[in-house]
Amino acid sequence: MSPSTGAALRMLAATVDAKAVAEIGTGTGVSGIHLLHGMRPDGVLTTVDPEPEHQQFARQAFRACGFASNRARFIPGRALDVLPRLADAGYDLVFCDGDRLELLEYLAESLRLLRPGGLVVFEGVFANGRTVDSGPQPTEVIRIRELLRAVRESQELVPSLLPVGDGLLCAVKR
Ligand SMILES: C[S@@+](CC[C@H](N)C(=O)[O-])C[C@H]1O[C@@H](n2cnc3c(N)ncnc32)[C@H](O)[C@@H]1O
Repeated sequence: MSPSTGAALRMLAATVDAKAVAEIGTGTGVSGIHLLHGMRPDGVLTTVDPEPEHQQFARQAFRACGFASNRARFIPGRALDVLPRLADAGYDLVFCDGDRLELLEYLAESLRLLRPGGLVVFEGVFANGRTVDSGPQPTEVIRIRELLRAVRESQELVPSLLPVGDGLLCAVKR
């Protein structure tokens, strides 16, 4: 994740005064650290990843950055198995950085999870420029294009595509 994307994530979490954030794709915790910095001091990041070693690494990274252990809830598993267990309208921001083949499903789940005025954010929607390349593209790029179209056409969302890093698609839920 680029420093500009990290700064944007902090700013977005602070903009919605985030107390509850859901993250799809814990990874090594880079995005989580930025989100935690932008959230309220009592905010809790719920982060989902099927790889236990990724979550273990992120847990250590959060601790090294000085975040108390109760600031993050690590849920092991695939997003589409875990998200249905999370509360309706219980989140201020949903950050999607998991499996690119599941982007439309993440959008549907995010709309359910977000409170009105909450933000859904997708990382890497430029796919290194392949999203706007006219040549044949792999399925994950086709899924990104479908996501961009769905967000643009949704009556429920007010979107903006920020040209930071590899493209950060953001949308406010009305
Ligand atoms: C690009 S990395 C995330 C990077 C992370 N946000 C960071 O900044 O460190 C993608 C992550 O998504 C996870 N992942 C893959 N499939 C997933 C799924 N179905 N549900 C949730 N996470 C998934 C991978 O294990 C990987 O850790």
